[in-house]
Formats: sequence, C-alpha cells, structure tokens
Amino acid sequence: MSEPQRKYVKVIKQDGIAWTYLNRPEKRNAMSPALHREMAATLDELEEDPDTKVVVIAGAGGNFSAGQDLKEYFRANEGKPAQAKKARLVSNGWQWDRLYMFDKPTIAMVEGYCVGGAFSHFLATDFAIVAEDATFSLSEVNWGILPGGMVSKAFADAVLLRHALYYACLGEAFDGKEAVRIGIANFAVPKETLEEEVTKLAKKLMTKSQAALRGTKQAIRMVRQMGFAEAADYMQEKKQALRVDDADHSYQSGLQQFLDKKSYKPVFEPFKKGTQITDQRDK
Ligand code: COA
Repeated sequence: MSEPQRKYVKVIKQDGIAWTYLNRPEKRNAMSPALHREMAATLDELEEDPDTKVVVIAGAGGNFSAGQDLKEYFRANEGKPAQAKKARLVSNGWQWDRLYMFDKPTIAMVEGYCVGGAFSHFLATDFAIVAEDATFSLSEVNWGILPGGMVSKAFADAVLLRHALYYACLGEAFDGKEAVRIGIANFAVPKETLEEEVTKLAKKLMTKSQAALRGTKQAIRMVRQMGFAEAADYMQEKKQALRVDDADHSYQSGLQQFLDKKSYKPVFEPFKKGTQITDQRDK
C-alpha cells in the first residue's frame, strides 16, 4: 500500500519501528495547525498499521520541537475563538486522546530544543531517550504567559512538586541529564548513539506480548490517578479484558507453560541501569 502524502510530518518505517518526525526544521518544528492535522492523521494510520509495533516521536533537522507556532497557532487565531478552539482540539486530540493512550508503545527521541508546548507530545509518550546535550525549557513564563494546554498538568504529574514549580516559574533551560534526574526521561545518551539506543529499547519492547504491553501501559497511566479501591476494580477488569484481548495468546500460553514446567521461564538479568526483566518466551 502506498504511503500517504505528508508535508509537515515524515515517517520512516523499518523493522517494526515507525520513526515519526515533526518536519518543519526551518521553524525548529514549531507546531502549526496544519502540522497538528497531519500528526493526527499519521497516528490514526500508525495505530492501525499491522507492520508498526513501536512508534518513535522525534523532530527533523536536529531539534525535537520549539512548541506551538507562536504565529500560526497563537497570533493568527487571536480574536477568532472558533478557529482557536479548532486548533486547540486538533492539537490536544493527537497528543492526549491518541498518543497518550496509544495502543502500541511510544518512545520520544529528543535532541536539540524541546520547548514550551513540545512538552505535551514529549510527556504523552511512554518512554523517552534524550541526548545529553538536549535543551529543555518551559519558556512560557519568559513571554509572560503560562504553560498552557495540558503542559502544566502533564509536567506536574511527571515530576516532584518542587521541580515542577522551579522549572515552570523560572523558565530556565536544562539538559538531558537533568531531564533524567527529575524523571521526565529514561536515559540521556551521547547524541551520536541516540538512534541506536532507541532501537535497542524498541527491540526489547517488541519481544513482549503486544496485548500485555497495551494493557500494562494503559493501566499504569490510569491507576496513577485513582485511589486503591477504584484501582483494584479497574485492574480486575483489565485482567479479564487481557484474557479476551490477547490475540497472540502469549499471556495464556506463557503462564500455562510455566505451570506445566515446560520450556518457558522468565529470565531475570542484571542490568547496568537497574533491574530489567526480560521475557524470552518468543526466543
Ligand atoms: N513559533 C513560530 N516560529 C518559531 C518558533 C515558534 N515557537 N520557534 C522558532 N521559530 C522560527 C523562528 O521565528 C525562525 O523563523 P525565521 O527563520 O522565519 O525567522 C526559525 O524558527 C528559527 O528560529 P531561531 O530563533 O532563529 O532558531 P534558534 O536555533 O536560534 O533558536 C529556539 C531556537 C527554539 C531557542 C528559538 O527559536 C525560540 O526560543 N523559539 C520560541 C520557543 C518558544 O518559546 N515556544 C513556546 C511556544 S508554546
């Protein structure tokens, strides 16, 4: 099947990974309404695409994104509430309805600038690998405005209160290592190894049951916002749903094989950055 025509988004599909780039490098990948519409259509397509197992969100030309387009997203819509609402809905739509709850694992790959509104799609992904020298900034306060859309909420959810207040109120820039320290990125790596490290993570994710991954990532997001009783009910329902939803039956078969003392055994390997559990069922 031929690939859809895209102007502001570039997608390269390779070995199960869809490398998805915001593609306005001359504007540091600032997000115009037209770019938002293309991202919405692109994620629709990738969620259905059977060859796509993991989606990487990145920016073309050495920068992640300079946030909302100050001219085309904000200035052009001043005094036009209907048009402004339309732009906001399409922006929030792909970032929070689609990407945040995406059925497949998503990884942000960040180099260069990640500024303001770019924190939305950055924080809406499941994992983040960033260049050590990437530059993050919640710059809004420096323009006399607030981190709008869902940026304040997503940032406050992701980090400790003091970090959220410090970076949102000061607008100070920080690098990839600081992004890991405050908890918004998994790893900071030298820029030259960024793609390699993202590929490694994507390949690890591809060894898991896709149904179990989908259920787990959505559960982790949902239970964070719940109390114990609500979470217990939710997880019970999720577990039932997984049994029905598990198209490749790996949950059932892996468990059964373990109980039957057959071939399957989860392997617990030491991992240099913590403890990683590798599921070797499919090997
Ligand atoms: N909206 C619209 N255009 C933007 C933009 C944004 N958010 N960020 C950058 N651009 C445009 C610039 O206007 C410039 O366009 P031009 O070449 O037509 O003049 C081009 O992108 C390059 O920007 P420039 O500032 O020269 O690049 P830089 O590499 O020196 O600096 C940034 C990059 C991201 C630090 C800087 O552009 C910046 O601070 N942008 C604003 C970011 C921001 O505050 N975003 C919050 C929005 S929610």
